[in-house]
Amino acid sequence: AQSLGALGQRHGLHIGTAVDMDALADPADPRYRELAASEFSSVTAENVMKWESLEPTRGSYDWGPADAFVDFARRNDQRVRGHVLVWHNQLPGWLTSGVADGSISREELRELLREHITTVVSRYRGRIWQWDVVNEAVSDPWDTPSTLHYKGFWAQHLGPGYIADAFRWARAADPKALLFYNDYNIEAFGSGDPANDKTQFVYDMAKRLLAEGVPIDGVGSQGHLGTQYGNFDTFQVAAALKRFSALGLATAFTEVDVRSRLTEGVQAGDSEEINPRLQASASNFSVLLKACLADRHCLSYTVWGFSDRHSWVPGWFDDPPEGLATLYDEQYRPKRAYQEVKADL
Ligand code: XIL
Repeated sequence: AQSLGALGQRHGLHIGTAVDMDALADPADPRYRELAASEFSSVTAENVMKWESLEPTRGSYDWGPADAFVDFARRNDQRVRGHVLVWHNQLPGWLTSGVADGSISREELRELLREHITTVVSRYRGRIWQWDVVNEAVSDPWDTPSTLHYKGFWAQHLGPGYIADAFRWARAADPKALLFYNDYNIEAFGSGDPANDKTQFVYDMAKRLLAEGVPIDGVGSQGHLGTQYGNFDTFQVAAALKRFSALGLATAFTEVDVRSRLTEGVQAGDSEEINPRLQASASNFSVLLKACLADRHCLSYTVWGFSDRHSWVPGWFDDPPEGLATLYDEQYRPKRAYQEVKADL
């Protein structure tokens, strides 16, 4: 049987997965390594390229896990999505506490960010296909204030100009890597309040950055979906991708998973049954993939973990409990979602 990666390549599309480096190193879990190596033509580090992992102590980088990840990709002939240079989560404690107690000034913080981007991008220069330069910079309608705005640590301490700066610093350190802005809830235009539409906000931001000559190459749509929110429509999602690509940008789905609530009789072991939730999960995987296949500027379709055995969902969405968000069940049996993705390719 052909792998998803091989099938994707016939369309010029890379099919990727996030890789959990602890699972990859677990001698008791060989199937994880086999599938990560064979089924996908692109990989993203789930955690080991985040700032808290790379520089746990100020001034001393711990490259081991990130290097091992990039080496794994090279051995298996896989492209690498670098994730992530600038984000408000998983920052090292020395950085956030230094800012909080005033020992790191605004000027110093900007310089630390410049150094971080330059150091990381330079180290992997030539080995990263796409970098997520800035991640999740935009608020959601449920935040306060509900009017969309630039949210989080970086906007708060440096102002929104950090976004343009980050892209320029990344370009200078690796002129060939494709530089992406990455976010969630931007799969379609007008899916929420049209006057407060996050997709539109990100579109306007990207357009403005381009007009200012900022080196942004693409917009990544994470694709973290949930069956409780209903089904996306292929035409709507494809229309959103087309609007971004009409700006001259590449697009990608970067973190696809489709979770379900585990209440309502849906259990973690249910995967092989014909369960409406699992069918809805499979359909949403398929909708995003079909939209991507319909746009030649959509370069890759990456799932955020491939099995329910190693998925961030149960640990993150636990009240009420959610899960069953990936292509394979906990025993690495392919689910309906896997079959649908394969059939679409
Ligand atoms: C998640 C990882 O999957 C978890 O292991 C970690 O504890 C928290 O971060 N958006 C992103 C990813 O851009 O980096 C996040 O990954 C999931 C949401």
